[in-house]
Amino acid sequence: GSTLQAAAAESGRYFGTAIAAQRLNDSTYSTIANREFNMITAENEMKMDATEPSQNQFNYTNGDRILNWALQNGKQVRGHALAWHSQQPGWMQNMSGTALRNAMLNHVTQVATHYKGKIYAWDVVNEAFADGSSGARRDSNLQRTGNDWIEAAFRAARAADPGAKLCYNDYNTDDWTHAKTQAVYTMVRDFKARGVPIDCVGFQSHFNPQSPVPNNYQTTLSSFAALGVDVQITELDIEGSGSAQAENYRKVVQACLNVSRCTGITVWGVRDTDSWRASGTPLLFDGSGNKKAAYTTTLNTLNAG
Ligand code: G3I
Repeated sequence: GSTLQAAAAESGRYFGTAIAAQRLNDSTYSTIANREFNMITAENEMKMDATEPSQNQFNYTNGDRILNWALQNGKQVRGHALAWHSQQPGWMQNMSGTALRNAMLNHVTQVATHYKGKIYAWDVVNEAFADGSSGARRDSNLQRTGNDWIEAAFRAARAADPGAKLCYNDYNTDDWTHAKTQAVYTMVRDFKARGVPIDCVGFQSHFNPQSPVPNNYQTTLSSFAALGVDVQITELDIEGSGSAQAENYRKVVQACLNVSRCTGITVWGVRDTDSWRASGTPLLFDGSGNKKAAYTTTLNTLNAG
């Protein structure tokens, strides 16, 4: 294949990007996005603060803009994200207890229902585990509603859109020996054992020199896949440049190709200048839209795999 999506499709996988609604009018951006990627994630537009700015008043304007652009161009969509401690609308941030639990479940139900039948996979719950060595849940207003808030969110999402794959999504879960990775693994194993509806685990994979691609990354992907879930690389970006950056992209892509249930890779933006990392060059295209060494290596790795 001569594009990322075509090369990934040769092994039945997708290759995606995050899209920002306000950039779709930039023709350099939308031309690259349309040519290279066949799975689209809204970078911010389907989050809780964007979709329910006032309680029970839903706004799908920008989320729909991205969804419609994707579907009109023959692409699939990953929904991001139904329940998260961050990017909550102001009205939700100070809620607690039963009122918050019900508001969260209503949000999951309403948003998943709005997009019913149009979403390949939802990040149902995002970033619910703590960093560091505790292996604990992250403290948050949602966590304080009870440890079962995650499974309650998954059950509500399944009821609202039975056709969407339901994913748990997190960062710093790439190193198999990391306490956070093991804690997520234990939760997914428990969900599968008890019949809580979960279909996939997303590995955000934001890498930088302080948090590099671990050598056991493929072990992490294959270990989760062995629980009976798909695994996906959901927000890939890797700080660096030149051949060192390209080699890191190769490692990540090859790890996914080596795991049959690794169904696709999404990078978190198109050009370096579109990245959430204000000063950095973590993506596959430079600010002018030129293909970087990391692009060529990614394409060649997909084609060889
Ligand atoms: O749109 C407003 C604009 O009107 C306002 O003037 C400006 C001033 O701050 O803010 C703009 O909103 C910003 C938004 O990005 C759009 O650019 C928010 O402040 C900013 O917080 C938001 O950042 C996003 C971040 O998630 C929020 O948590 C990033 O774009 C987005 O890339 C990032 O994505 C996350 C994933 O969802 C979860 N995993 C980590 C990943 C990277 O942080």
